Amino acid sequence: MTNPIHRRRFLETAATAGLVAGGVRTIRAEDGAANDTMVVAVMGTGGRGTEHSRNFARMNGCRVAYVCDVDRHRAEAAASEVAKAGGRSPEAVTDFRRILDDKDVDALVVATCNHWHAPATILACAAGKHVYVEKPCSYNPREGELAVEAARKHRRVVQMGNQRRSWPKVIEAVERIRSGAIGRPYFARSFYNNNRPSIGRGRDTAPPEGLDYALWEGPAPHRPFHDNYLHYNWHWFWHWGNGELGNNGVHFIDVCRWAFGVDYPTRVTSAGGRYRYHDDQETPDTHVVTFEFPGEKMITWEGLSCNNFRPGGHSDEMVFTGEEGSLGITGGGYRIYDLSGKVKEKVSGAGGDAGHLANFVAAIRGEARPNSEILEGHRSTLLCHLGNIAHRTGRALVCDPKDGRILHDDEAMKLWTRQYAPGWEPKV
Ligand SMILES: NC(=O)c1ccc[n+]([C@@H]2O[C@H](COP(=O)([O-])OP(=O)(O)OC[C@H]3O[C@@H](n4cnc5c(N)ncnc54)[C@H](O)[C@@H]3O)[C@@H](O)[C@H]2O)c1
Repeated sequence: MTNPIHRRRFLETAATAGLVAGGVRTIRAEDGAANDTMVVAVMGTGGRGTEHSRNFARMNGCRVAYVCDVDRHRAEAAASEVAKAGGRSPEAVTDFRRILDDKDVDALVVATCNHWHAPATILACAAGKHVYVEKPCSYNPREGELAVEAARKHRRVVQMGNQRRSWPKVIEAVERIRSGAIGRPYFARSFYNNNRPSIGRGRDTAPPEGLDYALWEGPAPHRPFHDNYLHYNWHWFWHWGNGELGNNGVHFIDVCRWAFGVDYPTRVTSAGGRYRYHDDQETPDTHVVTFEFPGEKMITWEGLSCNNFRPGGHSDEMVFTGEEGSLGITGGGYRIYDLSGKVKEKVSGAGGDAGHLANFVAAIRGEARPNSEILEGHRSTLLCHLGNIAHRTGRALVCDPKDGRILHDDEAMKLWTRQYAPGWEPKV
């Protein structure tokens, strides 16, 4: 890893993690086994997990041994996708504990619904697996803290799926912001737009054939099945999801926080609501959050779930304002503007997931630093949780810049964690 920003941040986090000395190797390499193929299992094979299954199947030196989904049909479909991608046909299973019990598995990819991300990560670390966990890495702030503890305790590589951390020109843009390309940066705005339809009103029905709904619920206390919860729509219910902020805001807020080199905020506000459709969804479809940090820096995110038009005619997903100019990042490239808004420089670049997955594998092999180590993932995910807590309590939050914990507000702090279904409380 030659990137100085990544290297400094990793050394900072890895010093606590004890990961640096001797690098991080697979369990099988430590055992001295001759075959160093990395054995991967994917948990949750919706659109995202299926994509990861294909990508790992195509990667040199990796084998996908299991694809797992509580929806049997989805697990079977993912198994045939892996075979089509050229991999050996993996075993399709519905219970991820089968994977945790298999000593040959080196890494678990967690691409389930958010309420499973941290509990599965923590159990996998305890079972000796390295983990690639999709964003957001937790359902609530406490789970994020525990996921970091689990990675440290079991000395595992845990990387969050915020792939922009591995996009070469985004890395370059962050370096340029930090090295003064726009003067002192003090304000970062980020945006997300979509054209999502209504999910209507759900009916209380039996779960569909092939779905183990009890295991889908897992750590979340039981609720009767409704036919508009799955798949995907769980994002819009506080019981399982984190709204658009945790779904898409996290990507952009993460890059802003990374570029600013800030860890935890001092003040968080939220405004918005469900303005477009009055259906079963609970999380805001129109949402503006602000995060203030020590050192006169502010990040905002504006999320519009039901209208794809972004006013102002600009397409930048993030705009950094500095004393001498601005820098906008869109997709894998960036543009630098002068103080009057004229484009001074335009740099194109590519996105995708391959680089981030390859970086995860290289980190496990001790050949690179993880580009989005779990502590970094937790800090960015926490901002989304804080934005949602500010929204749900209707109050501005004052936070401790040491760890992001909410000060002087016991009611808001109640949302730091959740009630768990018996037997599934995450423990490190
Ligand atoms: N990094 C990115 O750009 C990106 C893109 C898309 C999705 N994601 C993330 O990936 C995750 C999955 O997204 P999706 O769009 O595929 O959602 P989805 O709801 O379509 O798929 C989730 C799958 O997980 C399965 N699942 C739930 N609990 C399980 C368990 N205990 N064991 C095995 N399988 C279980 C569900 O049955 C479902 O098939 C989300 O957290 C999302 O935020 C990230």
